[in-house]
Amino acid sequence: MVLHELLALLAGELRGAKCENARLDAELLMAHVLGVQRGWLYAHRDESLTKAQAALAQQLVARRANAEPLAQIIGRREFWSLSLNVNRHVLTPRPETECLVEAVLRLPLSECCEFVDAGTGSGAIALALLSERPAWQGTAIDADPDALAVCHENAQRLKLAKRLHIVRGDWLQSLSLHSIDLIVSNPPYIAASDPHLQTPELGFEPLHALASGSGGLDALREIIAAASTHLNKNGVLAVEHGYDQQQAVVALCRKNNLRVLECGRDLAGQARYVIATMSSSAS
Ligand SMILES: C[S@@+](CC[C@H](N)C(=O)[O-])C[C@H]1O[C@@H](n2cnc3c(N)ncnc32)[C@H](O)[C@@H]1O
Repeated sequence: MVLHELLALLAGELRGAKCENARLDAELLMAHVLGVQRGWLYAHRDESLTKAQAALAQQLVARRANAEPLAQIIGRREFWSLSLNVNRHVLTPRPETECLVEAVLRLPLSECCEFVDAGTGSGAIALALLSERPAWQGTAIDADPDALAVCHENAQRLKLAKRLHIVRGDWLQSLSLHSIDLIVSNPPYIAASDPHLQTPELGFEPLHALASGSGGLDALREIIAAASTHLNKNGVLAVEHGYDQQQAVVALCRKNNLRVLECGRDLAGQARYVIATMSSSAS
């Protein structure tokens, strides 16, 4: 079979399975099978495929039709300027988290900032920050050793491992440091009863990376309370939260003597992150 015929067939299968970006996903899976960039497919429409290539493409498309996220099938996701390995043990990094990274990079933090990424998963936030700030040092914490293995792999591959200390722990409990410049976190924040968790694609991601207690705020509550004991006097906390949780997060910061610096939105215009500081003086 030639390439453009198979692509039409695969895209049709994904359309039939109500896959939102059927054609794009078919192309990305095909490009993955052939080990080429997506653009190559357009210049080689009439290329003949081997039986093995066609069979593998069909296998991967069947997984996608069964709602498995594209990133997990391919094993890669672009985040910030980085290509990250992902698998079923980590949350696939989301574009809204790039807004948190961008906001952190706008802060007037020291050139040799020491930061902690709590709930690092694939290492997305920590590695994006290290890639932009050559003198920063990070500690990446996660409770899940399988997630930490992915973070370690990514740090090695991106040659950032020397500046990233990877620690297994329960939020900030394992930290002995009390003079951290920055704590950043995208914790799980979906309420355990939220029907959104039943979305087929989310079923492929770890529940402990998504849900946090009955109101979705358990992890944020714990991280914000612990932050004030681990940050230095000008230290900053930057956390991502659910679209309807900003007021609650602001209240938690104030309750823990953190002064709110910024309440931010994501690219879709949803309230998405809060940045707060230990410093009492207005900057
Ligand atoms: C929403 S994911 C964020 C992953 C990554 N930071 C990102 O933005 O793509 C939350 C992460 O928190 C981790 N986690 C859940 N409970 C934890 C706990 N008690 N202590 C540390 N990490 C935890 C999960 O394993 C998961 O990797």
